[in-house]
Amino acid sequence: MNDAYARFCAELPKAELHLHIEGTLSPQQRLHLARRNGLTVRHGSIAELEAARNFGAAGTPQEDLKEMLDYYYEGIEVLRTERDFFDITYDYLRQCQAENIRYAEISFDPQAHTARGLPFAAVIDGLHNGLVAGEAAFGVRARLVMCINRDRSVESAFEALRAAAAYREWIAGVGLDSIEQGNPPLKFKAVFDRARAQGYRLTAHCDVDQQDSVRHIWQCIDELGVDRIDHGINCIEDVALVSALRARRTCLTACPTWRPRDAGPRRVDRMRTMFDLGLRVTMNSDDPGVLASGSLGHLMPHAGAAGSFTPAELARFSIHAFEGAWLPSAERDAYVREVTDYLRSAERGLQAGQAAGAS
Ligand code: ADE
Ligand code: ZN
Repeated sequence: MNDAYARFCAELPKAELHLHIEGTLSPQQRLHLARRNGLTVRHGSIAELEAARNFGAAGTPQEDLKEMLDYYYEGIEVLRTERDFFDITYDYLRQCQAENIRYAEISFDPQAHTARGLPFAAVIDGLHNGLVAGEAAFGVRARLVMCINRDRSVESAFEALRAAAAYREWIAGVGLDSIEQGNPPLKFKAVFDRARAQGYRLTAHCDVDQQDSVRHIWQCIDELGVDRIDHGINCIEDVALVSALRARRTCLTACPTWRPRDAGPRRVDRMRTMFDLGLRVTMNSDDPGVLASGSLGHLMPHAGAAGSFTPAELARFSIHAFEGAWLPSAERDAYVREVTDYLRSAERGLQAGQAAGAS
């Protein structure tokens, strides 16, 4: 990857649609919050956390996801106060500004916090106030997506929806995450029906290479009626599914992320296939503090180069993301114009550079 390509990625206006705020916690932040909250944690040093983060040894994709989530859920136990939620949100938006991520839809896992005894209000107040303050300080627009943990009960999901009702205006959409095996989308049909009736936008994880990934994607579009799918890259295994997703213009938030044990981006070949098939695929970071790939600004040039995506194709990823964003159409259009203007001026710059080099 050359400097011009890296600069193009850094300055490209970007949107992040698939990011778990609890997954932004880096080993450093985990230790800082543990200390601030007076907690004794199992992995009490950076070295121990780095060793624990080396998940994905030789397991199946299902076991890999479980190992990753075990590390993730252990980490979020350091989140104890409204201030903690405020700080991680504010810090993330600062990072977005540094990477020219102009807009972010940020997922959170309320049940993982209320199950530990935290009030829903402390979680949502911290996140919301962090967004408002971060937007004012850094000029980054962001909205919240409340994820249902699919490995918990349907009743627990309804309880989260009930708790969220008082904050309806602060939450753009509802998602579905956590352990997929044994927890198909269909399990939550009634929850998603209610969420849709309450006006939420809908998304759901269909994680990579899980048991029944393709069937789960079908369930998401046919039964849950989602607007988006998180990951969803196994769709390319089914021609009819690709056609259905293309016809519906469903946004698929793919993640070419890598773990500490990986040499570099994963899944880029399949993202290339999705892209070439004309699907509305986007590039996202998922859990930047947990995975080695870091945030979108960091991973994009690596994944872009690995997939041989041209600058114009990377701009198309950004356009897909802004088109898939849960924003009024005038705002979406304005962001898309930012991307096309940027691409035009970057291409002029590249041409001028080439002409100067040739003369
Ligand atoms: N929760 C946080 N990260 C997740 C992921 N990658 N898949 C499913 N649930 C998650
Ligand atoms: Zn995710």
